[in-house]
Amino acid sequence: MPTINRYDVLIVGSGAAGLSLALQLPRSLSIAVVSKSQLGAGSTFWAQGGMAAVLHDRDSVEAHVADTLKAGAGLCHEPAVHFTVGRSRQCVEWLIDQGMHFDLREDQADAEFREFHLTMEGGHSHRRVIHAADQTGRAISEVLVSRVEEAPNISLLKDRCLVDVIKMGDRICGAYLLAASGDGVDTFAADAVVLATGGASKAYRYTTNPDGASGDGIAAAWRAGCRVANLEFNQFHPTCLFHPESRSFLMTEALRGEGATLHLADNTRFMPSFDDRAELAPRDIVARAIDHEMKRLGADCVYLDISHRPKDFIIRHFPKAYEKCLSLGIDMTEERIPVVPAAHYTCGGVVVNQYGATDVPGLYVVGESACTGLHGANRMASNSLLECFVYAQSAASHIAESLVPQNANPTPWDDSRVRDSDEEVVIQHNWQELRRLMWDYVGIVRTTRRLEYAAQRISLLEREVAGYYARFQISRPLLEMRNLARVSALMVESASGRKESRGLHFNSDYPDTSPLKRDSILIPSNFDRRTALTGAVDQLPQYTA
Ligand code: FAD
Ligand code: SIN
Repeated sequence: MPTINRYDVLIVGSGAAGLSLALQLPRSLSIAVVSKSQLGAGSTFWAQGGMAAVLHDRDSVEAHVADTLKAGAGLCHEPAVHFTVGRSRQCVEWLIDQGMHFDLREDQADAEFREFHLTMEGGHSHRRVIHAADQTGRAISEVLVSRVEEAPNISLLKDRCLVDVIKMGDRICGAYLLAASGDGVDTFAADAVVLATGGASKAYRYTTNPDGASGDGIAAAWRAGCRVANLEFNQFHPTCLFHPESRSFLMTEALRGEGATLHLADNTRFMPSFDDRAELAPRDIVARAIDHEMKRLGADCVYLDISHRPKDFIIRHFPKAYEKCLSLGIDMTEERIPVVPAAHYTCGGVVVNQYGATDVPGLYVVGESACTGLHGANRMASNSLLECFVYAQSAASHIAESLVPQNANPTPWDDSRVRDSDEEVVIQHNWQELRRLMWDYVGIVRTTRRLEYAAQRISLLEREVAGYYARFQISRPLLEMRNLARVSALMVESASGRKESRGLHFNSDYPDTSPLKRDSILIPSNFDRRTALTGAVDQLPQYTA
């Protein structure tokens, strides 16, 4: 008889959202935190700039809210923005309690109480990004991992890949997890399952994201009957290092916050002619301007220049970026850095309420996989880590208050009718084809015809992958391909339905912004209105006070 592994709460994902949720659940609960590879392998580890929070006397919650709304191009949900920003100080305090050290102001070295050093990023009207040099995510990740390793009620399951969540009746009661060692698929039962699996930017050929950002949680929640929203708004970071030996290294926006400017090959500074805020305009504007200039000139890249700042300042504030560039022969204290835009962040995701609850009872989604209403049509820099911590905390208290033991016995995984695959090359090929076509047809600038073409191709790829899934033993590449194809199809469907340009979605057949502001909500065929989140099906849930 196959074993069923039992926990009170199963959290899939060990980034900022998953780890902080685990730490905020009651110690009386048995919890498993699952990670596809190493614990620190998600986007959290790579976060550079920092976390936006209202910490300075001259800043205010109202100013942070107003900046977020402006960046979100009319689609942010104001209650979600207030909810998140209003809890930013509390999140910073919680992180410090866990042992996190943020950078302090150097000019107050002799003062009794030093303030935090806050950086500036695009769209922010104040310095409000708290950070640990240019490796904030790594520092956060290390602190949280060491806290969960000490917690006796939390089991850490590395190298396990979510196959699907398990539904019995109308609720989620567990998940199937593939063991990386080739030991097959294990069945897990849990009273609540949380998906904290990050974004889907691997759908694009060029991305700042680590391997694994294949939208697994979004695809699994959709298959389980959850609505998804606003997936056309995939954010492209304007400044990814352009070098043949480094495809995905981010040059943090904090560089522009500290005065770095963008130039063409002939050294013309071009951002002031696109926006009054120049290099500190929100990301959608800067990425589109770069894309426009590169296409206009047939250029491979543009250049980021901070060499006018003192050498010791650059090395102190951006040690990782300096080291990386130097390893490629670029001394950023003296010369310009070649950069290009790259897919960076999934603004849309699974529809959740203010507690991270989804349309399917027992299933929660937090972090980059969720659509909370905070980001609207374009996420403002450094609001993402903040969102992870705020919703992890509210989901933890909701789970703690509402968890009811189910004692469910999910059906064990059955692979008796499949055989080993001898065609892995097909998955490899499909993976590359999908990411290339998403980059070429569903990128920074879209057209209706290209979106139609993308939809047709993705549908063929999905059919091929479904055939594989039914016939062969599953592997991590097959699961990722299946999820990436599903999420890409949802992205294209959302983009095709939006007959306007807004925020991160620009369709040159519809270049204007419509006065009608609406979210793109997609509803799966197995959506069950009786158990779903309350409210209109074509809207994000309302927040309660
Ligand atoms: P992640 O940190 O991505 O973690 C996802 C987890 O899920 C991982 O543990 C992964 O192994 C696991 N997982 C995924 N699929 C499966 C599966 N099928 N089975 C099992 N486990 C699975 N945001 C900011 O606010 N400030 C910044 O400065 C900043 N800088 C960034 C720099 C870079 C280079 C990148 C890529 C992103 C940056 N972001 C930043 C965005 C931010 O880091 C992410 O949005 C955030 O960390 C996401 O956290 P998460 O917990 O939702 O997911
Ligand atoms: C960066 O440091 O530029 C990334 C910040 C973010 O994505 O919020």
